[in-house]
Amino acid sequence: MNNFFALTHQDVSLRLVRARDAKTLERLVLSNREWLRPWEATNPHGPTSFDFKAQVRSLLRQLDRNETIPFLILYKNEVVGQLNVANILHGSVSSCVIGYWIIPEVAGRGITPTAVALAMDYMFTTIGLHRVEIAIRPENNASIRVVQKLGLRYEGLKQKYIHINSDWRDHLIFALTAEEVPGGVLNRWQRGEVPKISYDF
Ligand SMILES: CC(C)(COP(=O)(O)OP(=O)(O)OC[C@H]1O[C@@H](n2cnc3c(N)ncnc32)[C@H](O)[C@@H]1OP(=O)(O)O)[C@@H](O)C(=O)NCCC(=O)NCCS
Repeated sequence: MNNFFALTHQDVSLRLVRARDAKTLERLVLSNREWLRPWEATNPHGPTSFDFKAQVRSLLRQLDRNETIPFLILYKNEVVGQLNVANILHGSVSSCVIGYWIIPEVAGRGITPTAVALAMDYMFTTIGLHRVEIAIRPENNASIRVVQKLGLRYEGLKQKYIHINSDWRDHLIFALTAEEVPGGVLNRWQRGEVPKISYDF
C-alpha cells in the first residue's frame, strides 16, 4: 500500500490520508460542527483536540504499526469525509472496526455505504480478516441505514461504550464475517441481493 493506493467504485473512492490533508480535514470538520458533534469521539480526560496535524500524524503512526488504515472518502475526486479502519487484529481474532463521516452537502447519495463496502471487501479479501464491526449510537438513524443497506447483522448493545459529545454513550454493534458475503459486500448490494433486515433493538 503506497500513497497512491485507492479503492474506487464509480464516483466514490477511498485513499490513504496524507500529512498534507490536515488542512482540508480541519476545514471540513470545523465548518460542520453541528452535523458532526453528536457522533464524534471525544476525550474523556479533558478538552478534545482540534490539532489536525497531530491527528493525522497519529493516524499515520497507527498505519505504520498496522493497527489502523486511515482513509479519506472522495466523491468526484473531492475529499468529502473520512473512513477509518481501526483496531485491526490478526491471528485467531482477525477483526477490525470501521468508523466514518461525510459532509452534509453530499449526504443521501449512497456515498458512505459504497465506501464502507469497498473497505469491507478490501479487509476481507486483501488483508484476509474474518470479521468487520461497526458501532453506532441508537439515535443515529442515518448511520443505521448505512449498515442496513449493506446487510450487517445486529449483534447487541454495548453500554457506555465510546466517549462521544462529552459523555459515555451506548452503541449498537453490527457486524459481518467473510463467509457471510462470499461474493463481496459491494457486489451483493449493487445486485440487490442484500437480505431484507428489520432490526429489533
Ligand atoms: C451517517 C452518514 C455517514 C451517512 O452517510 P450517507 O453517505 O449520507 O449515507 P446514505 O446516502 O446511505 O444515507 C443514509 C441515510 O441518511 C439519511 N439522509 C439522506 N439524506 C440526508 C441529508 N441530506 N441529511 C441528513 N440525513 C440524510 C437518510 O435516512 C438515508 O437513508 P435512505 O437512503 O434510506 O433515505 C452521514 O449522515 C454522516 O456523516 N453523518 C454525521 C456523522 C456520523 O453520523 N457518522 C457515523 C457515526 S456511526
